[in-house]
Amino acid sequence: MRPKKNKEIISHNNFVRGRFKEDISQITADFTASLDIDKKLADFDIDGSIAHLRALKKAGIVSLKEKRDLENALIKIKTEIKNGEFELNKKYEDIHMNVEKRLTELVPESGAKLHTGRSRNDQVSVDFRLYVKSRIKHIAKALIDLRAELAAVAKSNIKTIIPGYTHFQHAQPVSLAHHVLAYYEMFTRDFERLMNTYKTADVLTLGSGALAGVDFDIDRRLEADVLGFGSISRNSMDGVSDRDFALEFNFALSMTALHLSRFCEELIIWNSFEFGFIKLKDEFTTGSSIMPQKKNPDVLELIRGKTGGVISNLLSLFIMMKSLPLAYNRDMQEDKKPVMESADTVYNSLLIFKEIIRTIKFNKDNMAAGLKEDSIYATDVATYLVKKGVPFRKSHEIVGRIVSYAENTGKTLSTVSLKEYKKITGFIAGDIFDIFNPETSVNSKKTTGGTAFKEIKTVLEEYEKEIENNKKSLLELK
Ligand code: ARG
Repeated sequence: MRPKKNKEIISHNNFVRGRFKEDISQITADFTASLDIDKKLADFDIDGSIAHLRALKKAGIVSLKEKRDLENALIKIKTEIKNGEFELNKKYEDIHMNVEKRLTELVPESGAKLHTGRSRNDQVSVDFRLYVKSRIKHIAKALIDLRAELAAVAKSNIKTIIPGYTHFQHAQPVSLAHHVLAYYEMFTRDFERLMNTYKTADVLTLGSGALAGVDFDIDRRLEADVLGFGSISRNSMDGVSDRDFALEFNFALSMTALHLSRFCEELIIWNSFEFGFIKLKDEFTTGSSIMPQKKNPDVLELIRGKTGGVISNLLSLFIMMKSLPLAYNRDMQEDKKPVMESADTVYNSLLIFKEIIRTIKFNKDNMAAGLKEDSIYATDVATYLVKKGVPFRKSHEIVGRIVSYAENTGKTLSTVSLKEYKKITGFIAGDIFDIFNPETSVNSKKTTGGTAFKEIKTVLEEYEKEIENNKKSLLELK
């Protein structure tokens, strides 16, 4: 008798319309469906169902045979999905209903029991958490790989010196390695941020039911163990309606995208004719349909451009969540698109950016030429005077006068003669000319974290260990 009834309900537009006289209209069905987006949750949905099934067995709601049949059917559905044989039907609104529909086809006798002690509200939450956790692992790995690549580039460019900028004006000479490793630091914080987000997402919310908890003896610890969750949620209303983990994830992604976009911008500038600091592999550039000479850095531009979308996804999630009353509201169905889109964009950006870094060629002559404009040593002249006993504020003023003297007489700091220098200040002697040298300037920096070669070597050793440790902590995540 029961299988027949099942069939009857399922032939309806969806499972949950027992109390309705009418089927929903096509336009409503289309409008409310989320299948196009949440189909990416399929595997996680099945994993969640398998965990739930084990709890149902333990609670005596399904027999051992039913549990086995249903579990086998769920595994079969997973294979069908993998092989592209699973027919998704929008009529069943979302991926959760589609999987359940197929399960009931495969096991008509007991398929309809699976949803005992579960609501789509806690089901969606747990699936989404599993998705976020899994994407974090991939993206964190991509960040480690990029950092390793940056460290490698830095290692072979400790002695390559470039002009360092502030306000996009020549400031002081720095090692190219130091410049590149500034990004290493940013991506390290991004990695840490993802690991923290993982903790936020690592809470099992299954067992929250629709909002109040469920009436059956569902062993939530068991479910958490099966699914690899570190803890279980403590409030069912919060459990079904909290999306902090998704917001944190989108924030972490936005930050990574922002860091990438800054680096891309620099590389685009460095790739310009005026700078000519780098050469990109052809593969990452495209020509123009009208100007035959062009080799445009399209990939870098696109990473930079896509950052806008990633940041707006964070905002759209914030705006969707703001002011929502407890507990689940259908608005929250809109949470997946911005997260999934940003996760894919950032992951793909990281992969391709790593390849760009791996294959980048530095034009060291042009970098060195940038240092010929020797007002970049003005701070070093000020330091020279301090070492001769002039208070810094005073030496700053004297160097200001020197710079303006050089400018007015068409000279540079290194072509002003000693006689001329002496006329401006008695503190300058013949050794002044030793400082107009990039290596001297870079290596005169004494502080930890500065650009001196010695410091960079120390920090690179630290990074090597750090990368190994990060790889280990990633593997330790369940
Ligand atoms: N597709 C929906 C979502 O992702 C499923 C939840 C529907 N729950 C409900 N109570 N109508 O949010």
